Amino acid sequence: MKYTVQRGTKDILPNEIGVWQIIEKTCRKLFELYNYKEIRTPIFEATELFFRSIGSTTDIVSKEMYTFPDRKGRSLTLRPEETAPVVRASIQNNLLSKNNTTKLYYLGPMFRYERPQAGRQRQFHQAGIEVFGSDDPLVDVEVILLAEQIGNRLGLSDLGIDINSVGDKQCRPEYIKSLKDYFKDKIKEMCGECGKRFEFNPLRILDCKEPNCQKYIEKAPASSQTLCLDCKIHFEKVIEGLKASGIKYKINNRLVRGLDYYTRTTFEVISKQLGAQNAVCGGGRYDTLVEELGGGPIPAMGFAIGLERIVEIVKSQTLPAGRQVPMTKSQQGIKLYIVTLGEEAQKIGFDLLTKARKAGISSDMDYLGKGLSAQLKAADRQKAKYSLIIGEEEIKKNKYILRDMKSASQTEVSPDEVIQTFQK
Ligand code: HAM
Repeated sequence: MKYTVQRGTKDILPNEIGVWQIIEKTCRKLFELYNYKEIRTPIFEATELFFRSIGSTTDIVSKEMYTFPDRKGRSLTLRPEETAPVVRASIQNNLLSKNNTTKLYYLGPMFRYERPQAGRQRQFHQAGIEVFGSDDPLVDVEVILLAEQIGNRLGLSDLGIDINSVGDKQCRPEYIKSLKDYFKDKIKEMCGECGKRFEFNPLRILDCKEPNCQKYIEKAPASSQTLCLDCKIHFEKVIEGLKASGIKYKINNRLVRGLDYYTRTTFEVISKQLGAQNAVCGGGRYDTLVEELGGGPIPAMGFAIGLERIVEIVKSQTLPAGRQVPMTKSQQGIKLYIVTLGEEAQKIGFDLLTKARKAGISSDMDYLGKGLSAQLKAADRQKAKYSLIIGEEEIKKNKYILRDMKSASQTEVSPDEVIQTFQK
């Protein structure tokens, strides 16, 4: 019986890990440049947390969660996203206050039982940020700028930003009422899911991807028509800030996003280089979630980037002449490969290997008892810069052979010079 990877999950192999590491490093660097601090939360949480935050009638919660009872019968869920866990952890550990901002970032796997397709997996990775404590529109601008700068730094071209405001507690009921009025006489023609959404959460009708439903959704009322004065002013200031920062955006009045916690600003970064799953980043403001989950009345805003989608673009991209996706250290190869012939040489070689590693010289040796030329081939495969050959003859002479793997030129070194030679 051969086991294979589960549907919707992927092994990320050593030959592609370089792109991942570069993307992760770029995200971390920029998050820290903007003064965000890393947080790591557990992979599973109480199911209730996601019900209360994302919303029980959303697709994520009603259809896509990996939920299971633990051995004591508690209902647990593999995190489908990281905003709710970060809010939970921040409240629990008193990281939030009304008088200060708290800026957190994360990278890690998320789990959603979706139909797998290009850019959509059941285990996928997000890099995201959350900023708590201020509802200033400039925070929204900063968050969007950061998302944009990550795209730029990774050399992604063809990115677009869609932005909207979904209003707040005050004006949302008005919007929902306008949606109900509009869909009232159309809902019979729409899919069964939309029928349910009409009953329980009309806003979610706008998430439906059915072509027949889309026909009606396209003409649905825009949230901008029902925004209260405070939300309108907030949105105008966000737009003003984006303009002042030279960010290109498109107002998309149907961008309500598939999670219930959003208030006011919602946005997505879209790539033209991807197919149907074209959002590389999604986020928005959620000013009431902290309080709903038992914290104080603390506003918040954030986004998450889908790393698989970024990896796809970076891999498919032809970089400008002379630029290559840089290699990681391990892809560049090791400095030294120790070739040993015979048992005694192996012992000496192993001792030198340990010393080399302690001295910070990346190195390896053969453990398969191969002959000289097979060991040299192995050194080549490991992209070793040098090999050190130790055989009976070399032990007798107390001089080992140091071979430059590229030029094949060889010099002799005495045992206690080996490490120094590399340090020079
Ligand atoms: P989201 O839009 O559900 O938002 O996910 C953010 C990004 O994760 C998407 O734009 C997409 O790139 C990626 N993504 C989502 N599902 C999948 C999947 N099945 N396979 C591959 N990539 C996927 C959130 O998760 C919010 N927590 C974002 C946020 C943070 N809002 C405020 N703060």
